[in-house]
Amino acid sequence: MKIQTSFTNCMGCDLPIIMAPMFLVSNIAMVVAGSEHGIIGSFPALNARPVDTLRDWLQEIQNRTNKPYAVNLVVHRSNPYYAQQLKICLEKKVPMIIASLGDPAEVIREAHQIGTKVFCDVVNLEHAQKAVSKGADGLIAVASGAGGHAGNISPFVLIPYLLQYVSVPILAAGGIGNGATLAAALALGSSGVSMGTRFIASQECGVTEDYKNAIVHSGPEDIVTTYKLDGVPANVIHTPYVKKIGTELNWMERWLLHHRQFRAWILRLRAWKSFKMLQQAIEKPTWKQVWGAGQTVGIIQEIAPIPSIIAQIQQEYIAAIQQLPHNLL
Ligand SMILES: Cc1cc2nc3c(=O)[nH]c(=O)nc-3n(C[C@H](O)[C@H](O)[C@H](O)COP(=O)(O)O)c2cc1C
Repeated sequence: MKIQTSFTNCMGCDLPIIMAPMFLVSNIAMVVAGSEHGIIGSFPALNARPVDTLRDWLQEIQNRTNKPYAVNLVVHRSNPYYAQQLKICLEKKVPMIIASLGDPAEVIREAHQIGTKVFCDVVNLEHAQKAVSKGADGLIAVASGAGGHAGNISPFVLIPYLLQYVSVPILAAGGIGNGATLAAALALGSSGVSMGTRFIASQECGVTEDYKNAIVHSGPEDIVTTYKLDGVPANVIHTPYVKKIGTELNWMERWLLHHRQFRAWILRLRAWKSFKMLQQAIEKPTWKQVWGAGQTVGIIQEIAPIPSIIAQIQQEYIAAIQQLPHNLL
């Protein structure tokens, strides 16, 4: 089955879905399973550590699938590996780059020279217009309720709002976890969606069973926004440990974040501090549970293999469209 949109035309995939890049969560098996089954598998370049292993990741993905996939680059100065990661992505001619958290001008300029498409994460109109003015091929509109770094505008408003001002394809992220929400996002005018949390509860995902079970058993009420990870608001499950450490930065960090000259440093320091904590929580059973997830936890009921998840989303999409009222007068 194919669902054709301007995004699938642009990327040459069957379905207008990105398996969203997830720090410390996305792995090669997930990317390959996603891309082989018609969506765009993706991962953050930061998941390949040390940085040179990014070349090996890309080689392995290219050996296992000839379908399109994407790499997420944090283009902000807080990412010390950005230049090297970009160089490797260009060398390996990745089909798509998802640029997040900074000025995408350089990555767009360089990527376009070799035909790589660049989509930019945005959370509001200002970001969207900036990305389009720099030549982005499309946008990923990250709405409220998304897992990881989230925006604060409802997806029901964000997509049609941005479409009034920009004419590149827009993908909806946040609040999309099944076929009905995919259909809703397309009805809003988006050209596709980016789903993260849905794919954490997959067999291919390497996180602990505790984390996967928490996705299945949590509701949207259990999702809370914290500044405690890398200083940028991020949605996580409100575990007892998250309750214990709190979700706000101290006054000094808040003050530093608001001053341009210190912002990159404080973000880098925060990211470094939270890295070990996140890694432990994701890879090993621990009581220090810090688990990124979005409000779609409320509509995820089981852990399944990625091909089944994609097949289920397709069935739900068809059912959702068929059950719309057709009694127009
Ligand atoms: C655990 C986790 C880690 C994430 N890490 C990243 C990341 O490294 N880079 C990025 O651009 N987005 C990241 N995101 C955001 C996703 O790419 C995407 O916007 C989000 O998952 C969409 O919302 P959903 O999870 O509700 O589907 C992350 C999301 C989660 C849940």
